[in-house]
Amino acid sequence: MKINKIHIPPIKIQGIKTKLVFWIKENISLSEETRWIEPFLGSGVVGFNLAPQNAIFADINPHIINFYKQLKEEKINSFIIKQFLIKEGKTLSEKGVEHYNYVRKRFNDEKNPLDFLFLNRSCFNGMIRFNKNLNFNVPFGHKPERFSKAYITKIINQVKFLETVFRKKNWIFKIQTFEDTIKEARKDDFIYCDPPYIGRHVDYYDSWDKNDEKKLHEALIKSGAKFILSTWDNNQYRKNEFLNTIWKDCHKLNKEHFYHIGAKEVNRNPIIEALIMNFKPRDNTVKINVNKFNQINMFDRFIGTQIHNIQ
Ligand SMILES: C[S@@+](CC[C@H](N)C(=O)[O-])C[C@H]1O[C@@H](n2cnc3c(N)ncnc32)[C@H](O)[C@@H]1O
Repeated sequence: MKINKIHIPPIKIQGIKTKLVFWIKENISLSEETRWIEPFLGSGVVGFNLAPQNAIFADINPHIINFYKQLKEEKINSFIIKQFLIKEGKTLSEKGVEHYNYVRKRFNDEKNPLDFLFLNRSCFNGMIRFNKNLNFNVPFGHKPERFSKAYITKIINQVKFLETVFRKKNWIFKIQTFEDTIKEARKDDFIYCDPPYIGRHVDYYDSWDKNDEKKLHEALIKSGAKFILSTWDNNQYRKNEFLNTIWKDCHKLNKEHFYHIGAKEVNRNPIIEALIMNFKPRDNTVKINVNKFNQINMFDRFIGTQIHNIQ
């Protein structure tokens, strides 16, 4: 499993874990036989780049899975997608928001994965958001010239990477809840979980609460398989309380990311990311206790990697 460069998938999603791929890779060892199980696929950036030979990729959002499934089954391909984006992009440049709204209505009626890609790449901020009637409701991103030649080439290169890996791999795509996906896991599988952040409730397919977090923990422990969960640990305002309660029987690794909003240090917005796992990680680890960890200065540029093992 060698990765030289991270390939960004064609579906954009909030909370994409591009920055975590190398970190996750450092902490796992997958044999040729290990089956990778990813119940919260999203864009797929983690699993697609780690590229295990065998995998189940699942998500409760049917449109994400349908897009990848149709690509895997060669019902759509980079040629079809390119022609589609050229045609629809041309009409978008002529009619602007009117055409965006036309495609959005068509997608909500027909659920065509090509329309889903078009909307995902031209909507406001690349958001994926569905209302309770299961309609995609994100407004236009206000760029009628969105599908320039260069932008279409970028998307098509992203699709071509997937076409190449999909052909070589034994990957199954499923629309289902995390409970159903984890039920399929065997002891020798490896499960990677990246659930939504708690309490955001902006999207029908992306709501998450304490009960879901508890159910996820129970399901993972019951599976008997090795797992990694990626989540947030703390930022300057809040900390993730569930790490010391629901996930207290697990190991934890931390890393800090800075999100630069401006040049001044006070404008930097650090977030401590966490990997939670039920096995001892391979990373360079320091054992620390809960209280000491919580006193770490948030503005330290690099906290490093720490293991937190609460018994
Ligand atoms: C944070 S995103 C995953 C991002 C992904 N790791 C990436 O890097 O692109 C969470 C995903 O979980 C899916 N999801 C939300 N609730 C779910 C549930 N109960 N069962 C399965 N998937 C769910 C959402 O549709 C969303 O795609």
